[in-house]
Amino acid sequence: GANGVKSGKTRNIIEAMEESGKNCIIFYGSQTGTAEDYAARLAKEGKSRFGLETMVADLEDYDFDNLDQIPSDKVVFFVLATYGEGEPTDNAVEFYEFITSESPSFSQDNDPPLANLNYVTFGLGNNTYEHYNAMVRNVDKSLQRLGAHRIGEAGEGDDGAGTMEEDFLAWKDPMWAALAAKMGLEEREGVYEPIFGIVEREGLTRDSPEVYLGEPNKSHLDGTPKGPFNAHNPYIAPIAKSYELFKVKDRNCLHMDIDVSASNLTYQTGDHIAVWPTNAGEEVDRFLDLFDLTDKRHNVISVKALEPTAKVPFPTPTTYDAIVRYHMEICAPVSRQFVASLAPFAPTEEAKAELTKLGNDKDYFHAKVTTHYLNIARLLSTVAKGKKWSNVPFSLLIEGITKLQPRYYSISSSSLEQPKIISITAVVEAQALPGREDPFRGVSTNYLLALKEKQNGDPNPTPFGLSYEITGPRNKYDGCHVPVHVRHSNFKLPSNPTKPVIMIGPGTGVAPFRGFVRERRKMAENGQEVGKTLLFFGCRKSTEDFLYEEEWKEAKEVLGDKFELVTAFSREGPKKVYVQHRLKERAKEINELLEQKAYFYVCGDAANMAREVNAVLAQIIASERGIPEAKAEEIVKQMRSSNQYQEDVWS
Ligand code: 2AM
Repeated sequence: GANGVKSGKTRNIIEAMEESGKNCIIFYGSQTGTAEDYAARLAKEGKSRFGLETMVADLEDYDFDNLDQIPSDKVVFFVLATYGEGEPTDNAVEFYEFITSESPSFSQDNDPPLANLNYVTFGLGNNTYEHYNAMVRNVDKSLQRLGAHRIGEAGEGDDGAGTMEEDFLAWKDPMWAALAAKMGLEEREGVYEPIFGIVEREGLTRDSPEVYLGEPNKSHLDGTPKGPFNAHNPYIAPIAKSYELFKVKDRNCLHMDIDVSASNLTYQTGDHIAVWPTNAGEEVDRFLDLFDLTDKRHNVISVKALEPTAKVPFPTPTTYDAIVRYHMEICAPVSRQFVASLAPFAPTEEAKAELTKLGNDKDYFHAKVTTHYLNIARLLSTVAKGKKWSNVPFSLLIEGITKLQPRYYSISSSSLEQPKIISITAVVEAQALPGREDPFRGVSTNYLLALKEKQNGDPNPTPFGLSYEITGPRNKYDGCHVPVHVRHSNFKLPSNPTKPVIMIGPGTGVAPFRGFVRERRKMAENGQEVGKTLLFFGCRKSTEDFLYEEEWKEAKEVLGDKFELVTAFSREGPKKVYVQHRLKERAKEINELLEQKAYFYVCGDAANMAREVNAVLAQIIASERGIPEAKAEEIVKQMRSSNQYQEDVWS
């Protein structure tokens, strides 16, 4: 990689910086893409405001033993998401182990080892989990211990409180000020320099074989997709069967069986499946129209990185339509910083002033945008009515809009019973919001709904008027398909099937427990002995959203008194009845089962339900064992760390 030519291969971060003339490296530890996105935003801001030569780097791509050689006129950022129960994200596991180890082996013998290292750090966490922002806290502690110098605060964003974006914005300005002071940087008038160049490919059309129209990579483009299938390479799976689970018309809950038999994909009961969604046609149209790209939507373009360290986040040559439909998170609520960055390109002076105000005034932004969940195109169309935003560089949209991310679902089938058919159980999200004519609709669940309707011969568009390209661009396949991959989880039945289990799963939180119950049912059918299998399920009404009602009866027929379903119908009586109320009613039995080392599982809403269940369990232990609540809480904590208490929760 001499002469500034991108080698793209070196794992030596110093070499990578030198090759590309960088003085600021922004590492990210990211699972769902948010931390990666924040890293990219910091890189952009550092460059435009302070002229820093920034580069974004995946922690997985580099070695760390030479962090001690990074000279003190450079700076290293760590943008670190905490995942699950205080764990590093997959791409940060090695870094985390290295940096937090007793004495990491660095390349030199400095004392302290990282005396030259200047760093900045921000964490992405969720306070509904016990180990809030454990990654950033532990990494920061380790870096301090190793003698590195932190610039600014170790920032912490909280997804649980829904304040991630504002936490980030509040943290970064004082950080930039401290960094500018430390490195002697002059703030300058932000000039936009595109990171990507767009080249129109006049010789190519949508029918040219090398043009990507939604295919995730080359093997898919060639029509010969090959495993391993993973977070970089989905398997485009046929849908075996799909049906509605609710008995009411106004809400939908899907059951979908996905056939992975023609792939080498495997799963275990309790794992997650990722769905790679497609944006709704209406949102794609709105976006393209707003940015004045409708006429060009099917033009073939190549996108090139103008910087050696930047990566084009999708394969090219492709079309505007394909980029927007398959690769951009265009339906997500827009961020305040991105809105501000569009101000110079507004079509009118009023629109420019409005964007600047939205960018500067947090409360105004909250009232105008956040409370209505406005995505970028919806917001801009209200800011300059009827005007097209033709001056916005497409590169800025690629840089500023998050990559469309796969969505994870708890698998609701048993791998013992059906190793090659993966089931999903998902409520179709549609949230009515004040000040909006139509509800905010979840990207992935509405896409799945459209797939279900298509597959069952119902006409597309869906009842909501959303239409999707289903057999379109990824359409080397007949019939209904969905791109997926599997993520392994630790949410598992005890290896000894005779151990009792207690499962708490209201709503679609019941998904993995359908898998668990079917697994034990299958074991029993195979002549194996199984332990007590106690399931708490809650929903609104027994006549509306009682998921898998028939299946529980069938399980009971096979498992007899080994299986029991306890229901909490919250809207049938004068008072709300929730799963944790039912749990408490059975305090004695629950305590006895726990004393027989029953495993305890919770799945579903993290913010309220899972917390309340945790609290009730501690109360049960306290009252049944006649011990103080503080002691009981300690016992619950121990149950968690020994995996006797397992959670699969989301917010
Ligand atoms: P609700 O909507 O009537 O309040 C699945 O969503 C079920 O979980 C519904 O019956 C819902 O009741 C219930 N639910 C809502 N909040 C809950 C909480 N904090 N704890 C347990 N269950 C809850």
